[in-house]
Amino acid sequence: MTSGGAGDGGERVSTGIPGLDEILIGGLARHRLCLVEGLPGAGKTTFTLQFLLEGRRRGERSMYVTLSETEDELRAAAASHGWSLDGLSVIELSTVRSVDDQQTLLHPAEFELGETTGRILARVEQEKPERLVIDNLSELRMLAQTPLRYRWQFFALRRVFTRLGCTVLMLDDKTARPYDLQVHTIVHGVIALERGSLDTYGAERLALNAVKMRGLEFHRGAHDYAINTGGLAVYPRVATYPGRPEPLSAIVSTGVPKLDDLLGGGLATGSSTLLIGPTGTGKSSAVTRCMLAALQRGESAACFIFDEQRSTLRQRSASLGMDLAPYEESGRLRLHEFNPGELSPGRFAYNVTRAVEVDGARTIVIDSLNGYETALAQTSNARPTPHPRPARHGQSLRRNRGLQ
Ligand SMILES: Nc1ncnc2c1ncn2[C@@H]1O[C@H](COP(=O)(O)OP(=O)(O)OP(=O)(O)O)[C@@H](O)[C@H]1O
Ligand SMILES: [Mg+2]
Repeated sequence: MTSGGAGDGGERVSTGIPGLDEILIGGLARHRLCLVEGLPGAGKTTFTLQFLLEGRRRGERSMYVTLSETEDELRAAAASHGWSLDGLSVIELSTVRSVDDQQTLLHPAEFELGETTGRILARVEQEKPERLVIDNLSELRMLAQTPLRYRWQFFALRRVFTRLGCTVLMLDDKTARPYDLQVHTIVHGVIALERGSLDTYGAERLALNAVKMRGLEFHRGAHDYAINTGGLAVYPRVATYPGRPEPLSAIVSTGVPKLDDLLGGGLATGSSTLLIGPTGTGKSSAVTRCMLAALQRGESAACFIFDEQRSTLRQRSASLGMDLAPYEESGRLRLHEFNPGELSPGRFAYNVTRAVEVDGARTIVIDSLNGYETALAQTSNARPTPHPRPARHGQSLRRNRGLQ
């Protein structure tokens, strides 16, 4: 739990999802109801399991009510991420009954709806969870059949959850046609998990958008996320950070005396330098020399490679008398290799900021900007929102992260 950001005074609940609390400036509003919506496979279940596991870690009573999957399926999905659900309360209320269960099949919809919400409420009253997940609303909507009946049931649930002080995540797979926006007006917050267009060739793009958080400050817009084994990771987009003061500038050597002379002493810290030239003119080797000079001064450095493999860079550098091995072994040099076809700009920015803020790198090399641009071009059509050009991206990285 973290206290709220400026201007809201509300208590926040940590989501347990790396990067998301940063976007929400501390987490979700405690004791409130938030909708997590996304098409099938967008990661809603994974998201909410992380939320409940974080609750368990903090000793909070946590409950998962599944209306769409069986408990076995849920446990298997959790196990695939290496999670045990021990200590969580899992309530399976499947609305799709077995064909043998003739009595249930013949129930009129209104009765079934009342029965389902009644069973949810009974368990919630009994166990008084502090964190609660309802997966998912499509099932309730289907049972309700009319918008009015659905809304009544929704209010009934919300009243009890609020009285008991639950922090609730309700999932919606957006399968209702036309898409039902009325629930947006009832809930306190809405988080959308958006998948990029699948008709575009290339890697799928996933973006998280905090659409609304009543009365809370948060970072709006699309933030890339990934579903990894081990859960969702969200990469807060750099443009959302408030500006930081420009770092004090000093002049550092490039490691090439004549180049230093040309540059009036060397490179200015806090600046970006673009090295331009046709292929084979030694751009990569020249920047490796600059990086080595920084390492020899005792600094840390990071190199982001798009166009070749780490092993190629190591071998070429060694053959030119620049042995990078000791610096890699000591952890002061980190070589990050990206496949341009799989790159998400948010993930890249996250890695660069970590290199500066966590690993303490003061020289960052991106080899090459063309590779980075190619990667963005491949993904730009699939983005739910337009992506800034690399130059702008680089500027905000530098301004906000104090890069040299
Ligand atoms: N163990 C895992 N490692 C990596 N990725 C996984 C793993 N398990 C699931 N995924 C990815 O997560 C996606 C599904 O996530 P999840 O079940 O949370 O989505 P969902 O939004 O709840 O889907 P639905 O609406 O069908 O319930 C899968 O399509 C798969 O790409
Ligand atoms: Mg699911």
